[in-house]
Amino acid sequence: MSLLLTNIKELLQVREQNILKVSGSEMKELPTIKNAWLLIKNDKIVDFGTMESIPKINADETIDATGKIVLPTWCDSHTHIVYAGNREQEFADRINGLSYEEIANRGGGILNSAKTLQETPEDEVYEQSAKRLEEVMKLGTGAVEIKSGYGLTEEAELKILRVIRKLKENYNLPVKSTFLGAHAIPKNYKHDPDAYMDLVIDKILPKVAKEGLAEYIDIFCEKGYFSIKDTQRLLSAAKEYGLKPKIHVNQFNSIGGVKTGVEYEALSVDHLEIMTDEDIEVLKGTKTMPVALPSCSLFLSIPYTPARKILDAELPLALATDFNPGSTPSGNMNLVVSLACIKMKMTPEEAINAATINGAYAMELSETHGSITKGKMANFIITKEIPSYTFLPYAFGTNSIESVYINGKKI
Ligand code: NIG
Ligand code: FE
Repeated sequence: MSLLLTNIKELLQVREQNILKVSGSEMKELPTIKNAWLLIKNDKIVDFGTMESIPKINADETIDATGKIVLPTWCDSHTHIVYAGNREQEFADRINGLSYEEIANRGGGILNSAKTLQETPEDEVYEQSAKRLEEVMKLGTGAVEIKSGYGLTEEAELKILRVIRKLKENYNLPVKSTFLGAHAIPKNYKHDPDAYMDLVIDKILPKVAKEGLAEYIDIFCEKGYFSIKDTQRLLSAAKEYGLKPKIHVNQFNSIGGVKTGVEYEALSVDHLEIMTDEDIEVLKGTKTMPVALPSCSLFLSIPYTPARKILDAELPLALATDFNPGSTPSGNMNLVVSLACIKMKMTPEEAINAATINGAYAMELSETHGSITKGKMANFIITKEIPSYTFLPYAFGTNSIESVYINGKKI
């Protein structure tokens, strides 16, 4: 099966030579071909070029993309889309003056979602989560990471990870799975948090590893949640099982999580709303991808990750949604790209790089996804007729997507 796209107004993120990520000032450049064609065979990108020199191609199907832009699908490297129910009551409580922290201290927040998940049958959790996954695919997401973390018991954490496995089996986009048992301290361990870490490390983690239920390990390294010592303990144990870290750090406080992540060769350190100069310094010369989650900042009214400071230090940056019921009930990568431009002062080129190739890197997918490169998977977005690619982040809240292709197939 071959598919030819012709008269593409502009083909974005074209990389002749594959690159794994882009950093600092390189991110200002978004290579494109104007008036382009793109040839797909089965599930792969086979060729592209400009319409001025298009060879004779007999394709099974041809799409005339006049006036439309084509770009790789978004790579969302940080989500919690497997959850049950919602927390709109807490949303209203925050409007009425309670803080996120106050709600959590009253047993709301993550513990509230964990209770609902524990009480919801696995099939029902799957149905709710599959709906969210389908929604984000229609919004242009073509690769996604999903974390556990709303179970907080052995049974419920494994339930979430099995749901993620089923999503991997039933949908054709790449799904990466992360074990986040250390997301919050359950109520019954409040007075003995070390015992909860023992449960996560000695009981749940070996089962997760044995059943091959996760690729990555995560922990919420934050005041009131898990300490640097907990983080070191967990990451050391996970290393024995071959699980790389992708960790929640510096959301509300800088307590040394970035440094710990780097020490354990984390694939990514995520959130980073609060960054000291030292946090930036320790990332230099490492393979760890910093990941910003601007729709979480929007929803919680907390600071945005200081993207300019990070990019000006010649570091890379990826963008992801953080889709979850408490801090980001949205999986819309288009909004994330807009917010990165509007609130974090990233240029459209930087934001698109951060949401495609760098997002792919943060899931170890940049050999196969994240750019228009020969041999890569045919995961791409066709926009509606729009004036330029800058229109994408500019017209925030507008759905500029006409269609989404994953593995060469329209969804
Ligand atoms: O990434 N910060 C930790 N965890 C989630 C939100 C948790 C919740 O409120 O349910 C996050 O923002
Ligand atoms: Fe998160």
